[in-house]
Amino acid sequence: MNGKAILAFSGGLDTSVVIKYLQERHRLDVVTVTVDVGQGDNLKKIAAKAKSLGVVRHYNIDARNEFVNNFIFPSIKANALYQKKYCLATALARPLIAQKVVEIAKKENATALAHGCTGKGNDQVRFDVTYHSGSNLPIIAPIRDLNLTRDVELKFAQKHGIPIDVTAKRFSIDQNLWGRAIEGGELEDAFEEPPDDAFIWVKTKNLPDRPQYMEIKFEMGVPVAIDGKTMKPIELVNYANKKAGACGIGIVDHIEDRVVGIKSREVYETPGAACLIEAHTDLEKIVLTKHELRFKTMVDMEWAWLAYSGLWQDPLKSDLDMFINTSQKRVSGTVKLKMFKGSLRVVGRKSKYSLYSHDLATYGSGSVFDQTLGKGFVELWGLQSTEANKLLKKR
Ligand code: ARG
Repeated sequence: MNGKAILAFSGGLDTSVVIKYLQERHRLDVVTVTVDVGQGDNLKKIAAKAKSLGVVRHYNIDARNEFVNNFIFPSIKANALYQKKYCLATALARPLIAQKVVEIAKKENATALAHGCTGKGNDQVRFDVTYHSGSNLPIIAPIRDLNLTRDVELKFAQKHGIPIDVTAKRFSIDQNLWGRAIEGGELEDAFEEPPDDAFIWVKTKNLPDRPQYMEIKFEMGVPVAIDGKTMKPIELVNYANKKAGACGIGIVDHIEDRVVGIKSREVYETPGAACLIEAHTDLEKIVLTKHELRFKTMVDMEWAWLAYSGLWQDPLKSDLDMFINTSQKRVSGTVKLKMFKGSLRVVGRKSKYSLYSHDLATYGSGSVFDQTLGKGFVELWGLQSTEANKLLKKR
């Protein structure tokens, strides 16, 4: 053999095909790494599949805690929704998976790093940039390098006796603790409604006849308890996913701009993210000043863009993190959500750092706000605008 490649292995079609290509075309020993980010797959089966495809070693790495604490929670603090819709489930997991591959490569004295990404998607960017940031080893990406299409892969898999499951033939799925992405197949017609049976996390039929409530407690921007129960990070995210999914919350169907310029139709199931981000965004509105909010909205958008675009390692990202973290000092409190047949609404919020003052806001007689101050304030506030309009009329 010519050396040793470390491959991020999911057990799916692409990465199974890659094992064979690395062995046969590149004459490389293959070491596979499966990183558990809560995808819920049978890790023993994946290990067995890797072994049956002739890898020299296989690693299972449980990175779920790291994933929640260092990737998901920071994204909640940033209210991260790419193009206002996508909670970045896949995008957040990739740098972590790639980081683990780099670590194994050092331990294994590898000669190459590999992944199963296509040359059309975002994941190649996320993998390559993390690989390059942590290592000088060459990157082999057979699907991209050989311009393979899915049908060619399916034929190749058949020829080499690689087992393929039924959903792989219908859709391309990626899932982890933060969400489930469904792509390809019949969803490629952007006008065609996704079939109900594409969804697994979110219920689409026989939804509860009564509204369900969820109370989320945050401390410094991080969710710590739901419905009065303090939970560990993984448990908390799972709980939110389950409860909101059962109420039909969390299906996203949108057109997404990929890094490489392609517009794609993306369908997601992200019930927990829908609730946690909605609640966090609302809590910020009651505790942050209007100046903080206006500026942070821009920072949040930039953060989501960097995370989506595979620039997790860019120094700008850590600069934004520093701003976001200090902004969260007062983001503690509880938000009440109401979920009913697929709709989600914030119906209450409270915080010891609340800037909402009933005595100032009320239209009742208990108001302590001196209305007479309004006249002078408005005159100065609109001074330049009204002056400019007068000049325009004189012309
Ligand atoms: N469009 C999303 C992203 O770029 C999800 C991609 C999911 N991948 C998949 N094989 N279905 O982050």
